[in-house]
Amino acid sequence: MKIALGSDHGGFDLKKEIIIYLESKNIQVTDFGTHTQESCDYPDYALKVAEEVASGNFELGIIVCGTGIGVSIVANKVPGIRAALCSDTFSAHATRQHNNANILTLGARVVGSGLALDIVEVFITSKFEGDRHQKRIDKITEVEKKYSK
Ligand code: RB5
Repeated sequence: MKIALGSDHGGFDLKKEIIIYLESKNIQVTDFGTHTQESCDYPDYALKVAEEVASGNFELGIIVCGTGIGVSIVANKVPGIRAALCSDTFSAHATRQHNNANILTLGARVVGSGLALDIVEVFITSKFEGDRHQKRIDKITEVEKKYSK
């Protein structure tokens, strides 16, 4: 599995911890920035990760900002992206099973790193259940089509 990572300055430290965690599990990761703690604009990094996942270069993405909200809003503008902001492991499990979420967003100022790593672990190991959930995903795709130019 290949995972695309991104953050703004608010998520920079947590992203580094997530990368160390994933690499310790021999998971291939690519960090699309930011690469410093200097203040930056979260849409730039959220967009990059979302495009990489939407194009199929990466199976999953993880994006971190202060709240996880800004990057989630941006990522969900990209057709084919289903980004889920999770602050608990139940939601991380459910959003993979039911929504087939392909990007996890986290708020570094909301969750501690211990919980964040548990959420990451659950998100990357849980599987989409398909079946009745697929027709709901298809409806999400229809909404994207309706509003795309
Ligand atoms: C940056 O200060 C902060 O606005 C950003 O990390 C994020 O929380 C936005 O949603």
